[in-house]
Amino acid sequence: MTNIPRLQYAHSLSTREGYRGYGAEQGSKELRKAIAETFYKDMGIKDTEVFVSDGAQCDISRLQLLFGFNMSIAVQDPIFPTGDVEKESGTYQNIEYMTCVPENGFFPELSNAARTDVIFFCSPNNPTGHAASREQLERLVQFAQENGSIIVYDSAYAVYITDGSPRSIYEIPGARKVAIEVSSFSKIAGFTGIRLGWTVVPKELLYSNGFPIINDFNRIVCTCFNGASRIAQAGGLASLSKEGFKLFWRNEKGDFCV
Ligand SMILES: Cc1ncc(COP(=O)(O)O)c(C=O)c1O
Repeated sequence: MTNIPRLQYAHSLSTREGYRGYGAEQGSKELRKAIAETFYKDMGIKDTEVFVSDGAQCDISRLQLLFGFNMSIAVQDPIFPTGDVEKESGTYQNIEYMTCVPENGFFPELSNAARTDVIFFCSPNNPTGHAASREQLERLVQFAQENGSIIVYDSAYAVYITDGSPRSIYEIPGARKVAIEVSSFSKIAGFTGIRLGWTVVPKELLYSNGFPIINDFNRIVCTCFNGASRIAQAGGLASLSKEGFKLFWRNEKGDFCV
């Protein structure tokens, strides 16, 4: 796939030379590399740890399938319905609600929080808009390390952070061993209807028996998904090009990148 706008790419699919079928299920090499280099520079995330998807919401559901409903989970309260589905469906038996209100700086009291297998955490949070500070995320990572919990970190709104707070959980030392990050082109490049996102699963993230979670996630992606639309991927790649950056992306001060 070359770095050309979606329409040209869509047209090329109708030609004998340009047509491509299934795969790769994990996303095109170019887009995985562009995501790793754009969003995870100096954080040690490799392109092979990035799985391109049809959106963060779909990936969170796939992660729920991966972990199963017997897991104990923690969710922020309030939180965007992606991490809230379990409340309605009654599928999880063991849910801890982590209250995030102005009185506690929109960050849960971890000192008396119950241990859970998985912690769904969204920053910036929808609906509060709070972006967890570096110090708060260090506490979250430490809490997960101490409890053997896996953090599923939703960073869909990360590029709106302009106060120096981390835009990725992998800015926090040790996060590679405890966290999966789910993110999206929806909020940052207007891809809500086009459907494009990604999930990062570091190779060092293991189950308690030492088996790498990335192997299982790869299996889920290959058997339950089959990969994001090639046209959406071409658009995502274009949005990460120099030209795309001028249109969509803002730096940490909130100014457009040129
Ligand atoms: C915090 C958060 N995560 C994920 C999503 C959904 O993202 P996507 O469009 O990639 O499925 C939303 C949509 O509103 C959201 O607010």
